[in-house]
Amino acid sequence: MLGFESIARVLVLLVGLNLLYVVVRIIYNIFLHPLRHYPGPPIWCAARLTWVLALQRGYLHRDLLDLHNKYGPIVRIAPDELSYVDPRAWKDIYVSGGSRPGHPPIERNGIWFRKQRHDEPYSILGNNEDAHARYRRAFAASFNEKAVNDQSPLIEKYVDLMIQRFRSMVGTGGNSTTIDIVSWLNFVTFDISGDLSFGESFGSTKKGEPHAWVEIACRFGKGIALVASLNYYAPLQKLLKYTMPATVRQKMIYHRELSTQKVRQRLQLHKERADFVQSVLKYNQEKAEKVTSNELELNMSVFVFAGSETTSTTMAAVFFNLLKTPAAMSRVTEEVRSAFAHEREIDVASVSKLEYLNAVINEGMRLGPASAIAVPRIVPALGERICGRRVPGGVRQASLFGRASYTNF
Ligand code: HEM
Repeated sequence: MLGFESIARVLVLLVGLNLLYVVVRIIYNIFLHPLRHYPGPPIWCAARLTWVLALQRGYLHRDLLDLHNKYGPIVRIAPDELSYVDPRAWKDIYVSGGSRPGHPPIERNGIWFRKQRHDEPYSILGNNEDAHARYRRAFAASFNEKAVNDQSPLIEKYVDLMIQRFRSMVGTGGNSTTIDIVSWLNFVTFDISGDLSFGESFGSTKKGEPHAWVEIACRFGKGIALVASLNYYAPLQKLLKYTMPATVRQKMIYHRELSTQKVRQRLQLHKERADFVQSVLKYNQEKAEKVTSNELELNMSVFVFAGSETTSTTMAAVFFNLLKTPAAMSRVTEEVRSAFAHEREIDVASVSKLEYLNAVINEGMRLGPASAIAVPRIVPALGERICGRRVPGGVRQASLFGRASYTNF
């Protein structure tokens, strides 16, 4: 039997070895790592922890801006990660690897959207390129011009309902009232997204109340960031399963089950409707390759979030910036009021022609991007040229606005 003293010695030895390993890694990362020639602050280049802490504080995007202002368009922001704000990076990373025509874009880093369970399919956000490409083909018909035209009446229906609700709150006497516009934008975008994904809305705009999913979605980003941070310290992420509060686990199960149930209900409709499910059903009928019902259920639970909170956050940014910029507000108001004689003329097709309004929306997206960071990419094993510089082989992540990163283990 080992005595207390021996156990203490073993523990001290283990802690000592771990510390030694950390020190050696820090020295290696700063002085010997293949990315050592890229500029970046030593505290970020030495260990992943600085990046993780910035992400968890919710200020990674601001820190990245400061780093780029100080170090230039390419900055090393972790031992194995580069951040780019050079416009060439867009093409080199997202369009065709290393800007070589026909070369595939650089793959996503699985650390961000890893499968939760072994037996579940990859989602459209996952890092399995075959599944991703198949989903893209199957959903493509939901995003072309014709699809958007066909979906317009559905979108207009919920926007009209929101305006009616605002009118009823003000009353006929023309009294003023205060509304929480961010909540209402969430209600309307979730209802639209729910209808396009599941064939029915969440009834939030009608009731003026959030559905439980709205709340879950607003915390979605934090959850992804936490899981991604832990994934960098594998196998630590396995602890999450045991340490996650029961309420969070229940919400996750509830979300998945409701999503499955709603897709099944949508499939029972047996009628053509301009929505995301329809394009997959048609694809499955016409093509040899298929999207399985499990895959459809999972992807619809992604779509319902992907299309809603992003859009409402963007609109909130547009309103916020317009309120801060009275000259732009009066110009856009003037454009809308002079373009239409009556409210019923305002629809998806007619507003898309308003030049200044579209400029305002684009500027709103630039000033307040709903997704503050992009999904990181992984540079392929043979390496890649990004912004005219070779990022060495074995590279693991890359993304734009943006990071490309490298690791050799
Ligand atoms: C202003 C609103 C939106 C913003 C800011 C936004 C942002 C993003 C971002 C940053 C990505 C990841 C891109 C990447 O790194 O590969 C993404 C992907 C995606 N978004 Fe959006 N999005 C918006 C609206 C929508 C809408 C309305 C839908 C409709 C359902 C949607 C569906 C998707 C899907 C399906 C993907 C995965 C695409 C793929 O992997 O090929 N998004 N979005």
